[in-house]
Amino acid sequence: MDSILVTGGGPLNGTIPIAGAKNACLTLMPATLLSDEPLTLTNAPRLSDIRTMTTLLESLGAEVSALSDGLVLAMSSHNLNGNRADYDIVRKMRASILVLGPLLARHGKAVVSLPGGCAIGARPVDLHLKAFEAMGATLELRDGYVHAEAPEGGLRGGVVDFPFVSVGATENALMAATLAKGTTTLRNAAQEPEIVDLAHCLQAMGARITGEGTDTITIEGVDRLHGATHRVVTDRIELGTYMLAPLFAGGEVTCLGGKRDLLEAFCAKIEEAGAEVTETPEGLTVRRGTGPIKAVDVETEPFPGFPTDLQAQMMALLCTAEGTSVLEEKIFENRFMHAPELIRMGANIDVHGGHATVHGVAKLKGAPVMATDLRASVSLILAGLAAEGTTKVSRVYHLDRGYEHVVAKLRGVGAQIERVRDDG
Ligand code: UD1
Repeated sequence: MDSILVTGGGPLNGTIPIAGAKNACLTLMPATLLSDEPLTLTNAPRLSDIRTMTTLLESLGAEVSALSDGLVLAMSSHNLNGNRADYDIVRKMRASILVLGPLLARHGKAVVSLPGGCAIGARPVDLHLKAFEAMGATLELRDGYVHAEAPEGGLRGGVVDFPFVSVGATENALMAATLAKGTTTLRNAAQEPEIVDLAHCLQAMGARITGEGTDTITIEGVDRLHGATHRVVTDRIELGTYMLAPLFAGGEVTCLGGKRDLLEAFCAKIEEAGAEVTETPEGLTVRRGTGPIKAVDVETEPFPGFPTDLQAQMMALLCTAEGTSVLEEKIFENRFMHAPELIRMGANIDVHGGHATVHGVAKLKGAPVMATDLRASVSLILAGLAAEGTTKVSRVYHLDRGYEHVVAKLRGVGAQIERVRDDG
């Protein structure tokens, strides 16, 4: 197992290229199951989660070739020979559930393992299943698997009224509805940029979709979808993570490919805390103002609100802010596992249920800490950039799921960071 060593120090200056979005790519890849013609994705991120989805698609009979050093994924599902997603793969990555909608739409049948619990909360999939029921599917839970079957003649359009916003359930329902008979309406749909990106890809494949990016999406089913080539949208979470780096360490960093409309609520919040953010055709440039970072209150919300996937990184920043900040986590019930690790570095944080109160301290100190999930791990690296001495972040396999070349990207702007192999 590897660890990352990061030593706090001087300012960071330069540019960081931002990759294609992991979360967009993980829903765009299963879209290949909807057509017997090839789907090619460009600007794909090089991550272990993408390799896990590749393995899953291959287990269903799809062909996936990673070209141009993994930046291009050429996929074909002309020869599907399976409709079962096994526990062994699904347990590694919850997004595996996203093959259910496409398989059900194309084959009329699918058996997919339930993802089970995960580090940041219970995360059930009931909303996904309710959406398929609204399209006429029958569902049965047996032996830890969802057995789904479309009615005679295939899925039919229906009205899906989500009781609360779910990104994954919106994606699954959207994909399934493209091949359903008749019109499907998704109400209280997620509006995330990754949903808009998926809709654009499906439209390029011949799907009839309107309303993407709003809370009501309408899909008129078609008989078949054709091949397409699609560029994966910029990863707004990687973007937000690196935009924070100069706020920890000082300096000025330009995130290439960044756009403010992907992260408006986040940009407004870091400006309130003392950042200067400038948008240029090249990307987003962030500079730390002259004064200290100021305490701010943060509530995570579905898009366009402040993203839960940037909450850990923001908490790390607020550890050394002037004053007291309150962070409220409204999406996942158990997403403060980074707090005890930050406390090991000298932070002063109280967690009560869905709230964390962060009392700013003058300085963090380097310490051995442990990554508990993907975003928590990167928050510890960011904290290390501002800490006195060296921070050792272990269990970095979490990081490899969602950040490509993190050491090279941060070194490129002057950070003291290296990856080491643990002994034994
Ligand atoms: C996606 C993202 C994840 C991000 C999250 C919220 C991917 C691969 N992952 O996850 O990085 O943190 O959106 O922006 O895109 N829920 C239910 N029942 C369901 C589905 C969800 O109760 O059937 C709950 C979840 O437990 C959670 C909330 O709804 O509390 C939102 O989850 P959801 O938007 O579905 O997140 P994911 O799609 O899993």
